[in-house]
Amino acid sequence: MTDTENPTTTTTTTTTTTTTTESTDPDTAALESDLLEGFFSDPPTLPPRWFYDEKGSLLFDQITRVAEYYPTRAEAEILRSRAGDIVGAASTVVELGAGTCEKTRVLLDVLAAGSADAGFVPLDISTEMLFETARALEQEYPGLRIDPVIGDITALDGPLPGEPGGRLVLFLGGTVGNFSESQRAGFFRMMRGIMAPGDRLAVGFDLVKNPDRLVAAYDDAAGVTAEFNLNMLDVIARTVECTGLDRRDFRHEAVWNAGESRIEMWLRAVREVRIDFPTLGRERTLAAGEGIRTEIARKFEPHALVDELAGHGFGGQSVWTDAAGDFGLVLVVVD
Ligand code: AVJ
Repeated sequence: MTDTENPTTTTTTTTTTTTTTESTDPDTAALESDLLEGFFSDPPTLPPRWFYDEKGSLLFDQITRVAEYYPTRAEAEILRSRAGDIVGAASTVVELGAGTCEKTRVLLDVLAAGSADAGFVPLDISTEMLFETARALEQEYPGLRIDPVIGDITALDGPLPGEPGGRLVLFLGGTVGNFSESQRAGFFRMMRGIMAPGDRLAVGFDLVKNPDRLVAAYDDAAGVTAEFNLNMLDVIARTVECTGLDRRDFRHEAVWNAGESRIEMWLRAVREVRIDFPTLGRERTLAAGEGIRTEIARKFEPHALVDELAGHGFGGQSVWTDAAGDFGLVLVVVD
């Protein structure tokens, strides 16, 4: 895990006034490795983490407020009605992919009212948003220790902050659905490895429902999700040396893949496109109509994650949904 007080391990953008070259910028290096891993395969894929530069994080925030995107409101309803059960006797709450922590505040209210030296650790990949959030929380919760951590939720290497057995880890928003089966298993294994007996994990997950509603949630009429998807191309063009990558050559697409029980977001080429990555020594031509898959968002049956988590050493589960049955939250404890 990356500690924000250690400057050698932060992911803040480097400037060009130092001897640092582009390829040693941590973002550039990470993107180059992601490109090599997925962009030259069929279909080409890019991991969703590249959505979340400052603009992308703001766009996601806007998505949570569009009429079609129900998950945020549904999850907030669960957190509101179960805040006491979820926080329990936790002394440290760690939130993975914290963003603006808007929904988390109902839990922080309970945490702050409980143990005297309680702490909150927002962890996020988006540096700007993370520090802005931490600053706001320090003002709002003078009684809580706020310790922001910059980190990639897929590569935490612990130990987790806080007292073993007294931690509550939050993984909200349905982000668990953005993992493939094997990434999800790897994530649960990693979490079990850095958590201690008695520590608890709460995971928000989206539920299977009418595909029309699912597609609409990822293709809102105002075009906010389309802009969010296309923004990834700008992030890539800025982060790695490349030619021929232009957002005007692509359109946003959200499709329901029934066989895999998931929404997929694609960037579909509207004409033939040739993209060159000189530092990688690679190029890729996309035919008109060919797509880049930028995100999967798996939708679950209510008890699917309980069984998976049990297989990774998490027990004592509670599963809650919102009143409409649109979204779920599973709370487990390390055995
Ligand atoms: C909150 C990251 C899980 O998959 O629903 C929203 C991201 N993508 N609209 C999701 C997202 C398109 C979101 N996560």
